[in-house]
Formats: sequence, C-alpha cells, structure tokens
Amino acid sequence: MDGLKGRGQVIVIAATNLPDAIDPALRRGGRFDREIEIGIPDKKGRLEIFQVHTRGVPMSDDVKVEEFANTTHGFVGADINEVLDALMVTKDDFDEARKHVEPSAMREVLVEVPDVTWKQVGGLEEVKQELREAVEWPLKYSDVFEKLQTRPPKGILLFGPPGTGKTLLAKAVANESECNFIAVKGPELLSKWVGESEKGVREIFRKARQASPSIIFFDEVDALVPKRGTYMGSSHVTESVVSQILTELDGMEELKNVTVLAATNRPDMLDDALLRPGRLERHIYVPAPDEESRKKIFDVYLRDAQAILAKDISPDELVKQTEGYVGADIEALVREAKMGAMREFIVAMEQKSEQERNDAVKNVMITKEHFTTAMGKVNASLDQDAIEKSERQAWVMLYNQEQRTTLEHAASVLKRAELAGGRADAAAIDELRNQTFLRRKDFTEIRKQSEALEAQLEKKREKK
Ligand SMILES: Nc1ncnc2c1ncn2[C@@H]1O[C@H](COP(=O)(O)OP(=O)(O)OP(=O)(O)O)[C@@H](O)[C@H]1O
Ligand SMILES: [Mg+2]
Repeated sequence: MDGLKGRGQVIVIAATNLPDAIDPALRRGGRFDREIEIGIPDKKGRLEIFQVHTRGVPMSDDVKVEEFANTTHGFVGADINEVLDALMVTKDDFDEARKHVEPSAMREVLVEVPDVTWKQVGGLEEVKQELREAVEWPLKYSDVFEKLQTRPPKGILLFGPPGTGKTLLAKAVANESECNFIAVKGPELLSKWVGESEKGVREIFRKARQASPSIIFFDEVDALVPKRGTYMGSSHVTESVVSQILTELDGMEELKNVTVLAATNRPDMLDDALLRPGRLERHIYVPAPDEESRKKIFDVYLRDAQAILAKDISPDELVKQTEGYVGADIEALVREAKMGAMREFIVAMEQKSEQERNDAVKNVMITKEHFTTAMGKVNASLDQDAIEKSERQAWVMLYNQEQRTTLEHAASVLKRAELAGGRADAAAIDELRNQTFLRRKDFTEIRKQSEALEAQLEKKREKK
C-alpha cells in the first residue's frame, strides 16, 4: 500500500468484524486511514432491511413490518435475513422464528429480551415511579433535560431484602422503556471470563453503546464490586474488575442513552467508590412489602384466577396472615395452594372414568384450606428482626446524619418501651414503629412521638 502513490483509480477497501485484532501498522495513516464503523441498524435501518428482504414475498394481512422493525433491537441485517428465511409469513411464525435468532450485536454478552411489564410487578409504586423518572424520562424527554441543563443519573442501585422484586423491576423497566437489556450476573461474569473479567466488562459497555438505548444490569453486584480489603481468593481479578467498572462509569459522558442498573441485597458489602456521585448515584430501596403491597402482589398472581377461587377465600385475610412474606414467597404460596388443589383432585379422581374426570375438572377450586396448608409449607423469608435490619441498612444509604440520629433514637425508645412492657403504651408504640420503619418518613413527627413515648416511660419509672 505504501507503494501506491496518490489514490489514482485504485481504492483498497477491507472489511472485518474484529478491528482490534488487526495489526495496528495496517491502520496507520497512509494505509487504511479511513475507518467506517458499520454499526447495528436502528429502527429505521431495520425497517429498510425488512422491506428489502420481504419485497415480492407473499405475506398475510396481519404482518406489520414496522412492528417487527420496532421490536428487533440488536438485530443486524444478517439476523433479519435469517428470521425471514425461517418465516412462513404469519405473525405467529415470525414471533417463533425470532426466538431462535439471537441478535449478533449481543452474542457474547448475556442477553435477555425481557417481557416483564409493570403490571406483573405488585406494589412498589414509588419504586416504579423513580425508575420511570431515571430511565424512561431521559430517553423520552432528553430535550427537557437539556433545556434545564441537567443530566439524568448515570447509574441506579436497587437494594433491599432477597425476593422483593429487584431483578423483576429491572426487567420491567427495560421492557417498558423499550431498551435493549444486557443482563450481567456478578458471579457469572467472573466465572465466564476467568482471568479476564475486566475484558468482559469492557465488552459489555461497548455492546451497550452500540445497542443504545440500552440498560446494563449488574445483578448481585456485591460479587463484582465488594468493599476493598474484603476480596477473597483470587484477589487481583476482582480488583481489576472493580477498577474497570469504575473507569467505564466515569467515562460514560459519551455513553448516551445507556443506563447502568445494579441490584444487591447486601448494600453494606459494596465498595463505597461505586456509590459516589457520577457512578451508581441514585439509590432506590426495594422494601419488604407492607400490607397494601402484599395485597397488590396477591392480585398479580390471583387476578386471572378469580373463576377458580372458592368463595371462602378472603384476600384481606391472606394479606394479614402473610406478614414477612416477600413477593417471591407470595408467588410460591399461590403456586403451592394450586398444587394442593391439584393433588386433592387427582387423588379423588384416580378410580373414576375419563368422562367423570373431564366433567369434574370444570369444578376444581382453590379453597381457603389449600392456602392454609400451603402456608405450612411456604414460610415467610423475613421476620421482624430481618425487616428491621434491612431498614437500618436503608437508613445508612438514604438519609443524612441528622435524620439517622432521629431514627436511631426512635428505635432505642421503642426497644426500651418494649422491655418496660405495659398495655397502655401499645398504641403509641405501634404508631411510632410504623412511622420509623415505614417507607415514607416524617422526621418531625418521629421526633415528636419519640419524645412523647420517652416521657411516658420516664413517668412510669418514677411511679415505681
Ligand atoms: N413485587 C412483586 N410482584 C410480583 N412478583 C414478585 C414481586 N417480587 C418478587 N416477585 C416474584 O418473585 C420472583 C423473584 O423476585 P426477584 O428475583 O426479582 O427478587 P430479587 O429482589 O432480585 O431477589 P434477590 O435479592 O435474591 O436477587 C420474581 O421473579 C417474581 O416472580
Ligand atoms: Mg435478584
């Protein structure tokens, strides 16, 4: 190439999918000095590719090419071609074919196309709203952010006790905001890219940029970015992963339309550096569900089952009986109650004829009894202590020194009131406990109530 004087009539064009594997000498000025990255097609590009490949293909009326273009994030031309080759041109066939073609853009990194909707997440209204604001708004209203000269949070940490729906929420927000979703499980990343996990991290961020708008979701992030000094075993692997993640987050200025989400149930195990402004700066607590939330979660799992629920089941009663159950427990409980109904039915029908069984199956019902039995098998994951402990962790993450002092003081007054016993205080204790351990906090009120309860305790002691 060096021998080619001036460009003349000869142009050398080369193509690769591994630009980094090319000898850098080739990429110098005077050789291949113009590089054109052919990225992943966007919606418009995909639509055109679909149109090219479906030209002259007989298609049934329910095929909407625009819709396919909208829902095939991360597919490149070859993938679309493959989909169409597999296509027998009804909508069902397309959907089926799509499942078998993995988008090239994300082949090496773990990819899921989530289909979770907000409706499938029970309760957690405030959390949903916060996620919408942090993920969906920047995509939808980027002009408003610009006008107000502000920027959306770069990274968001979801934390809270196990089984409360953190992973579920991440999938829902990706789906609802029509983002590509790159799911990275902490422990898996470490084992999949043994010895070169930081390369994996780089790759993930690169793919996310290419596939934007996208969400990178680090699940169980405590495994990836543990507090410094607590690394176990192959320590330097983790250390380089930590610094790679921090570097990528810091360099996210160009990361337009890429949101980093992370989840953990051990926020106390995370390296503080990760939580600083400009990194995972928005902290969202996903609490154990209270009564109202449990009601909504039951509703998610029983909504479509009204016809098979016996009249003796009272949702309110179920909610009362499931203190300490998290979303995952409630899902398991409902499944177990259904299993109970099934067992009963199958045992009863063993000796019956096929015809009788077919008739009887129309009347299978889930009864209160089934739920009661199920509660014996599926236990609450959290007790009062565990809930309080996770609330305390949330205080550390969410509130300032003064607010925390108020809360700690209230907690200690509560402890003392409990130890002192005495029926008279029960209402005041309950009220203060709710105020202290509930999600939305009124600090003035908490202070007032703590003082009142403390004064009461004091008086009692004097009487003795
Ligand atoms: N609020 C909820 N509404 C409906 N279903 C829920 C809810 N929370 C949890 N579930 C059910 O429980 C399952 C497990 O929840 P998920 O994996 O999101 O928990 P997690 O908070 O990520 O837990 P961990 O900290 O252990 O990873 C979900 O797939 C879903 O079926
Ligand atoms: Mg999870």
